[in-house]
Amino acid sequence: MKYGYFDEAGREYVITRPDTPEPWANYLGSPEYGAIISNQAGGYSFVRSGANGRLLRYRFNSVPADQAGRYIYVRDRESGDYWSGSWQPVGKPLDLYRSECRHGLSYTVISSSYSGISTETLYLVPLGKTYEVWRLKIRNEGDRKRTVSVFGCAEFTNDSNYEQDAVNLQYTQFVTRTCFHRNRVLQLHNEFCRRNADGSNGEERFFGLSGAPVSSWCGDREEFIGPYRSYENPIAVERGDCGNVPNYGGNSAGVLQADLDLEPGEERQLCFVLGVHPDAEAEKILSEYEDPHCIETQWEELKDFWEEKLCRFSVHTPDENFNHMVNTWNAYQCFITFIWSRAASFTYCGLRNGLGFRDTVQDIQGILHLVPEMALERIRFMFSGQTFFGAGLPLIGFHHEPGHVKLPGEPGYDYDPYRADDALWLFPTVAQYIGESGNIRFLDEVIPFADHGEADVYEHLRRAVRFSLEHSGAHGLPVGLYADWNDCLRMGEQGESVFVAFQLYQAMQILLDFARIRNDLDTVSELEEQSRKLRKTLNDVCWQGDRYLRGIRESGEMVGSRDDPEANLWLNPQSWSVISGCADEERAQNALETVHLRLNTEYGAVIMDPPYREHAFDGARMQLFLPSIKENGSVFSQAQGWLILAESLMGHGNRAYEYYRECSPAEQNDRAEIRRLEPYVHGQFVEGPQSPHKGRAHVHWLTGTASTVMVACVRGILGIRPTAEGVLIQPSVPSDWKEFTIDKFYRGKRLHITVKNPNGAQGGPVRIALNGETLPDSLVPFGQLENENELVVTMPGVEPTK
Ligand code: GLC
Repeated sequence: MKYGYFDEAGREYVITRPDTPEPWANYLGSPEYGAIISNQAGGYSFVRSGANGRLLRYRFNSVPADQAGRYIYVRDRESGDYWSGSWQPVGKPLDLYRSECRHGLSYTVISSSYSGISTETLYLVPLGKTYEVWRLKIRNEGDRKRTVSVFGCAEFTNDSNYEQDAVNLQYTQFVTRTCFHRNRVLQLHNEFCRRNADGSNGEERFFGLSGAPVSSWCGDREEFIGPYRSYENPIAVERGDCGNVPNYGGNSAGVLQADLDLEPGEERQLCFVLGVHPDAEAEKILSEYEDPHCIETQWEELKDFWEEKLCRFSVHTPDENFNHMVNTWNAYQCFITFIWSRAASFTYCGLRNGLGFRDTVQDIQGILHLVPEMALERIRFMFSGQTFFGAGLPLIGFHHEPGHVKLPGEPGYDYDPYRADDALWLFPTVAQYIGESGNIRFLDEVIPFADHGEADVYEHLRRAVRFSLEHSGAHGLPVGLYADWNDCLRMGEQGESVFVAFQLYQAMQILLDFARIRNDLDTVSELEEQSRKLRKTLNDVCWQGDRYLRGIRESGEMVGSRDDPEANLWLNPQSWSVISGCADEERAQNALETVHLRLNTEYGAVIMDPPYREHAFDGARMQLFLPSIKENGSVFSQAQGWLILAESLMGHGNRAYEYYRECSPAEQNDRAEIRRLEPYVHGQFVEGPQSPHKGRAHVHWLTGTASTVMVACVRGILGIRPTAEGVLIQPSVPSDWKEFTIDKFYRGKRLHITVKNPNGAQGGPVRIALNGETLPDSLVPFGQLENENELVVTMPGVEPTK
């Protein structure tokens, strides 16, 4: 079933059927003022922190679903009939009520049409502002005069800490009140505490209206809704009058009513504005929206802001869905994960007050091909979360103070122990950053460690490698510590992780490149020796003829061994054996073939198989989950990105594309009833074949899948791999892509790349003509670029050996 379509020109996803299987969401604003909104206008807002700056309430995982929200009600004053500007919460019958939701880049437009009245509500946070605007256009589509009332409604939290607001009712129910001034409801919180000279304690919220006088208002949720009613039928709307009631100690809300007379064809515009500002500022903000053009200009600014970022990389391939994802939606999701980390969605309630090390370092990769300069600050920040001894801190708090952080094991430290993989993610991220930006001097930049001391980036990286080498087990592979990438796999202090071993191998190859550039010969010879040893162990001890193991336990027992009754084949070691460059051609072919035979499903490859039921060991915590769910054998979506990349690096364009399509949200646009999640964003995982809900996806928006699949598309399928010297171009595409184009901004230059594939190749060597001159190999040296460049890349049709 299909609920909407991609509007490429507008970079919008248009939901034409409002009864989507789940609320389909979008993000507004920035970390200074952020909001999440569904196609039913459900969702919440927050200032800086989803956990501690919560302004609007949202009842997660509740019934009725997806409430509260940014609701606008319309009531016909003649008939008494009323509805909402989004289908829910009133939920008029869909044969009478038409609705469309356009999720765009940081804005959402929801329109309705019912009984001769149409509405269009634009929701956005203007660029650089710390409040949100709901711009309503309401129009009489009929040929007789209509009298209507419009109600805008926001349910405030009573405490900006989400958890307190939800559970500490003996306190939070008694600390706020609301009042009304001219065109706005004000909510005051702990009113007589912490006041500055102006009488403000910085916690005043307002909900105001511009564009029409307020005819009545309400500041009390219960008064608005009425006893034993809900947002579907609030008593104040039914009655057509909000009663001008404040809240004193109970649940605060902001509700504003405007009565409008609409001549045939007449349209009116109102703006509701919501934010955390003292009254005088609220007054000023609201007055700006008396000018009807103000919001329109702000909307244009927002669109320009995104266009300027996304236009830096765009593709035109024969596959429209691929284009939608790479050009707009996957890219946008990468920005959202980069900006919001795992802070706030309909699944994450906002309680994680910091940046997960691996998650964030991975997220950065998703935007590097667009805005390397924007990534730099965050890369620095992550390095400052690395300890003097080279490990990454599992979580870097928002109030991180490099040089003063308590470490795992020290008194006062209150998060997880070290994990084996965190700092190793820095290597591909830094290499990609340098490739995109050309800023090789970044390696010399001095950055403090989390606990004490400082060093240049090169030394930070050396210590990360050393940390892994010093924490190795009986076979010389890195130990698993608290977990590796897989949060549920605890190999322990002595048990070894094959996935981390491949990461370490990759890290050493990247560091070797840097060491050679810097002529650091001691490091070069040490790394050559260590990589040789590691590679030998991986291939001698961990290779089983058709697969690599997942790990070796302290007892010497193998995890992911062919004879295990359960979990005898794991996806990540196979893809990473290729990505790291550790597997030779034959093993790489073999391992990937085993994956295809054993793990692939119509929704991608499962993370391992069979799922644990009876034979899990102590550290295999995925057994907590049902088979085919999450880490226990689902199609874990992030891992699809690595598989696509691995197949691409092998030149297996058809396979890479097959996996891409299986996991691409856009590909399932017409199977939304199965996938359920937004068809324009990746989720964390998809239920595997042993679940009765095979194909159902979960944990929308904030997931490492976004960046990993993005990297797989850009560096893998499209084969655009910038290095310090220039851009290496090595596409690996389905053999029926006969021609496609890529437009890329690269260090201030423009590249217009046409890839020709007359013989239906799926990878292999290419011939490149740069501005008419044939290059000797597949590297386009930066020094040879003009400001504008025409590149013709010809795939000559050499098939991979398989
Ligand atoms: C989740 C976590 C991520 C972890 C993955 C696998 O996506 O956010 O950090 O690597 O699960 O366990």
